Amino acid sequence: MGNARAEQQRQTLTELRTKVQRGERLVMVTAYDCGGGRLADEADVDLVLVGDSAAMTVLGLDSTVPITLDELIVLAGAARRGAQRPLVICDMPFGSYEVSDAEAVRNAIRIVKETGVDMVKLEGASSTVQRVQAIVSAGVAVCGHIGLVPQSAVLLGGYRTQGRTAQRALELIDEALALEAAGASMIVLEAVPSPVAARITEALTIPTIGIGAGPSCDGQVLVYHDLLGLSEGHRPRFVKQYADVGAQTRSALARFADDVRSGAYPSSEHEYAMPQEELALFEDRLDPRASRSPT
Ligand code: KIV
Repeated sequence: MGNARAEQQRQTLTELRTKVQRGERLVMVTAYDCGGGRLADEADVDLVLVGDSAAMTVLGLDSTVPITLDELIVLAGAARRGAQRPLVICDMPFGSYEVSDAEAVRNAIRIVKETGVDMVKLEGASSTVQRVQAIVSAGVAVCGHIGLVPQSAVLLGGYRTQGRTAQRALELIDEALALEAAGASMIVLEAVPSPVAARITEALTIPTIGIGAGPSCDGQVLVYHDLLGLSEGHRPRFVKQYADVGAQTRSALARFADDVRSGAYPSSEHEYAMPQEELALFEDRLDPRASRSPT
């Protein structure tokens, strides 16, 4: 008997576009391992993003910049094995697509071949537009990401809302249109004022997925750890926390520690037995030197 979820149809881009045309909002969440991918799938999300936010959420690094392609590939393969039905996207990490079209194409192909994800995501617009064109020409679907692009946070002056001046807002529309023309299938808009995200969404034929970009985007994404209460430190304004899994986990771990220390765990229900006669034989044949107590 096969895995029931695996046998369900995998979500396609065409189906996602049809949902958008019907006025349905797309749901995307990040996941970085098989369990997270499976839970997202069971919760019926449309899209799973193996984001380079894994640098912070999984690897404990300070920013998304240091995570490597090899590290993301391991996480994306695991998330894909868990998320059978959603469309799965993997971030191209910083340094894996900036240098040349050829390197970007080689790395995008590596990601889809080694992980089984459906699409790769690249940040920014200027030189990224050309990279998107090259990767799409090679047959790999691409998601763009504009607005606050964390891989370039230093150049942006920090993790700041983008498009708050008329000039920058107009530039963001141009960036989105250029990415669509280059062949992007979807665009993430991060930390952009809602009216600007609304105009970008109107201007494009491909879906927009917002994170801190207001309600007019075609879909919304949140980071798994943020929505489950597993993150620590600064919480961006756009985060809505739906559970406190961190507190529950801490409490469960503390109860386990208490039980081990008090001897309450393991109890007889957690033990494995052996036939009485085998036990007697075993005790009989036991070398007295195997005993801890002095003979
Ligand atoms: O890496 C990530 O998790 C992302 C989302 C914030 C969109 O890019």
